[in-house]
Amino acid sequence: MKKVFIDTLGCQMNKSDTERMLGILSHFDYEETREEEDANLLIINTCSIRQLSEDKAFSQIGTWGRWKKKGKDIKIGFCGCVAQQKANEVFKRAPYVDFVLGTHNLYKLPEIIKRVESGEKVCECAETNIANVDEKDEFGIVRVKSTNAWIPITEGCNNFCTYCIVPYTRGRERSHSPEIIIAEAKRALADGFKEITLLGQNVDSYGKDFKDRNYRLSNLLRDLNALDGNFRIRFVTSYPTDITDELIDTVVELDKVCEYFHIPMQSGNSEVLKKMNRRYDRETYAKIVAHVRDRVPDVTITSDFIAGFPSETEEQFEDTLSAIDEFELDYSNVAAYSPREKTVAARWVDKYIPDDVKEERFQRLNNKVKENCLKSNKKYLNRTMEVLIESFYEHKGEMINTGKTRNNKTVHIACDKNMVGQFVNVKIASVKTWYLKGELV
Ligand code: SAH
Ligand code: SF4
Ligand code: F3S
Repeated sequence: MKKVFIDTLGCQMNKSDTERMLGILSHFDYEETREEEDANLLIINTCSIRQLSEDKAFSQIGTWGRWKKKGKDIKIGFCGCVAQQKANEVFKRAPYVDFVLGTHNLYKLPEIIKRVESGEKVCECAETNIANVDEKDEFGIVRVKSTNAWIPITEGCNNFCTYCIVPYTRGRERSHSPEIIIAEAKRALADGFKEITLLGQNVDSYGKDFKDRNYRLSNLLRDLNALDGNFRIRFVTSYPTDITDELIDTVVELDKVCEYFHIPMQSGNSEVLKKMNRRYDRETYAKIVAHVRDRVPDVTITSDFIAGFPSETEEQFEDTLSAIDEFELDYSNVAAYSPREKTVAARWVDKYIPDDVKEERFQRLNNKVKENCLKSNKKYLNRTMEVLIESFYEHKGEMINTGKTRNNKTVHIACDKNMVGQFVNVKIASVKTWYLKGELV
């Protein structure tokens, strides 16, 4: 067996592609190693959501380049979203790279490896938008061992938010067929996974592109919920205005589908939202969140926000802070705006916010998220909740099991017994900013 090391820098979709690459390579005599030094094949799976992520991709592979220069017999692959964007340019910046593989052509990996092993340099970054998006599934997946299996249900995005590079790196939105998804879920459950998380830039638009059938996210949730076994189902990410009443009702009705929605708002100000090309304003977002809260008991709602979008004023930024309070958002990912090549907002150079102002807003946003996360956690003090245990480790002489509640809160439980993979009932004894502390009941 030859050994492959993959360094994964991006989002869950990127991690999922890594699992697919490992699946494909396992059919061609490659097994995974976590030791870079042992690998015959080194792959970096890159992310380009912000300039910093892109820079990291190039700085990270410098070491591999130096090993090669010194005569080490290795092959180096550059994959993922930066590869899709930069294609042949990668060879100019990093001449020691053997192949560049974009996000659309993963299934070509076997052929690429063959060509690379015979000494060729290969670049496969054409945007295929293949009608049959399931083509890349034929080799299966080698999943990271954990309790949760990620299953992509849509690829790409049609929304073209003015700050975002994803439609350029991932192409137009395509849905995987329900048959493929259900088969993958069955396989994961048979392998012992206890949770299925359906993945997409915009999961609630799943199935819109099916021409010959009317089958949407709620249908998929129903079919998955009907599978045998004790397991949980989640889905991320939701686009606010694509959350239908039917979807909310389905979440309430189905026992395995968890009370958790990730609904990025991006800004709390309607003018900024318009400039971002988001298809809702503050009031519409408020209504959607209120509706979800009203219908789904104990639901956790998380979000994403950007600080310092071009032309954002101090008042507009304060609307974002107040949105987190007003909509009681349980947790949010936050980022300082980073101009991205090809995107519309990147052209508004004269409207860019100075770095120091952006950084200061980013810090205030972070503090607001922290404050609200603690407030949200306090709601659960003294409550008894079901936790799926995900890890077991020693911390300061104490053995700790950590896991998640149905509504995606992290819980730490001091207990000598390794309970990974089990569902346990826990009483919440105290709360911290980022987690709850529980006791077995
Ligand atoms: N599909 C999801 C988001 C995918 S990208 C959605 O529509 O919400 C993940 C997050 O990265 C985004 O929610 C956004 O907050 C952040 N992001 C995207 N482009 C960015 C940029 N140019 N600068 C800073 N943050 C960005
Ligand atoms: Fe990017 Fe907007 Fe698509 Fe999300 S919906 S991936 S933010 S373009
Ligand atoms: Fe994900 Fe980064 Fe690509 S967030 S889709 S890996 S640009």
